[in-house]
Amino acid sequence: MGVRGGCTLLALGAALTACAWLLGSAAADGEPGAAGMRRRRRLHQEDGISFEYHRYPELREALVSVWLQCPSVSRIYTVGRSFEGRELLVIELSDNPGEHEPGEPEFKYIGNMHGNEAVGRELLIFLAQYLCNEYQKGNETVINLIHNTRIHIMPSLNPDGFEKAASQPGELKDWFVGRSNAQGIDLNRNFPDLDRIVYVNEREGGPNNHLLKNMKKIVDQNTKLAPETKAVIHWIMDIPFVLSANLHGGDLVANYPYDETRSGSAHEYSPCPDDATFQSLARGYSSFNPAMSDPNRPPCRKNDDDSSFVDGTTNGGAWYSVPGGMQDFNYLSSNCFEITVELSCDKFPPEETLKSYWEDNKNSLMNYLEQIHRGVKGFVRDLQGKPIANATISVEGIDHDITTAKDGDYWRLLVPGNYRLTASAPGYLAITKKVAVPYSPAVGVDFELESLSERKEEEKEELMEWWKMMSETLNF
Ligand SMILES: *[C@@H]1O[C@H](CO)[C@@H](O)[C@H](O)[C@H]1NC(C)=O
Ligand SMILES: *[C@@H]1O[C@H](CO)[C@@H](O)[C@H](O)[C@H]1NC(C)=O
Ligand SMILES: [Zn+2]
Repeated sequence: MGVRGGCTLLALGAALTACAWLLGSAAADGEPGAAGMRRRRRLHQEDGISFEYHRYPELREALVSVWLQCPSVSRIYTVGRSFEGRELLVIELSDNPGEHEPGEPEFKYIGNMHGNEAVGRELLIFLAQYLCNEYQKGNETVINLIHNTRIHIMPSLNPDGFEKAASQPGELKDWFVGRSNAQGIDLNRNFPDLDRIVYVNEREGGPNNHLLKNMKKIVDQNTKLAPETKAVIHWIMDIPFVLSANLHGGDLVANYPYDETRSGSAHEYSPCPDDATFQSLARGYSSFNPAMSDPNRPPCRKNDDDSSFVDGTTNGGAWYSVPGGMQDFNYLSSNCFEITVELSCDKFPPEETLKSYWEDNKNSLMNYLEQIHRGVKGFVRDLQGKPIANATISVEGIDHDITTAKDGDYWRLLVPGNYRLTASAPGYLAITKKVAVPYSPAVGVDFELESLSERKEEEKEELMEWWKMMSETLNF
């Protein structure tokens, strides 16, 4: 995790030197340094956003320039390194960069997990630039969002694959070159397969959340996991993410859990307990993208089977079963709800088209992000007001619990409706509350739990009182 982060703490003057690791020509494979890459013709520059492909040094440069432009609300950090030693860079946008603020939900966007699926990588760079620009212009929506959300943007989870794909000559790129990481591992098949565990638990009983709990060590020792996979697993474990999207390419649809079918068949609608919420979240992306939500859009390729697509969304398993994906891993190992968005029929489209992809996706990216403020949120504390971490929040009728973060704060994404929420923690009396949830914003519901030992004390006192009264009445 963010060992090298915190550049933002430094004065601007010192900043560039301090963050030399970021800009340095340290790339493992002798790529030209950042300076050498300024050959670019800045074709489609507009409002500080250059609509062009960013190779690794240019990606670093672009993130640093956002940070230099918006130093008080941004920070760059890395979650680890790729197999070939490139940093897995993240730009964070928040009014308090580098810190979890109690009650403030955390969001992430991840792009370019398949290195040859390049549109997401670029859209996330543009998004960081856009958020910074709008913040500076005084755009109320963006200011509120940055003040009330901690936003993490990772343009590339597979920088090695991207370099391989991008270094092919000509505009027409091979469909597969650069998909995997440098070891040949498909990162979106490389995560611990927690679906198999939850499917057994559904039948035989067992936990319905945080299924990696006792296996963290196994993750670190597992030689089959790519360094990129391990880095992102630690990231997911360390930060209380609430909502996320993983941006891919090669089709045009917002895909939601589960990705892996229960029966093992290749195509089968595989609802997770939060199916209604995920359908709504996915529509929150697709409905703002005119191409994705167009009901008359022909399939990307003539023989593609799009029959599972509804309003630009699909259940993952209904489309095709994917074991070991990152999306289901988020949901089953943490509190984070993630969808997988396919942004473009073309995986590596011509550079001239990037601006139109941004125009088609800008409102989707913003609206999806804003959905983090839906459902119910609040704190779980004891009677003295001390936060209770790891308390369970369960919703009647939904077999997927979420837990409180270290300040006792929780966020429970839900579609509109009437719910019964229960907060419980070992050693405390559980409390159930009724709550009516609108579309947005999230309803605040706090819980104060009485500890069982306090309850025992109270009961003892009551008993003593009773005994005293009885003995006085009976006069013995
Ligand atoms: C502010 O940002 C929001 C979200 O992207 C956008 O919809 C809106 O048009 C912007 N407002 C102005 C005045 O540009
Ligand atoms: C909460 O649970 C996590 C994961 O099991 C554990 O690492 C952490 O120490 C727990 N925190 C508290 C305050 O119990
Ligand atoms: Zn992909």
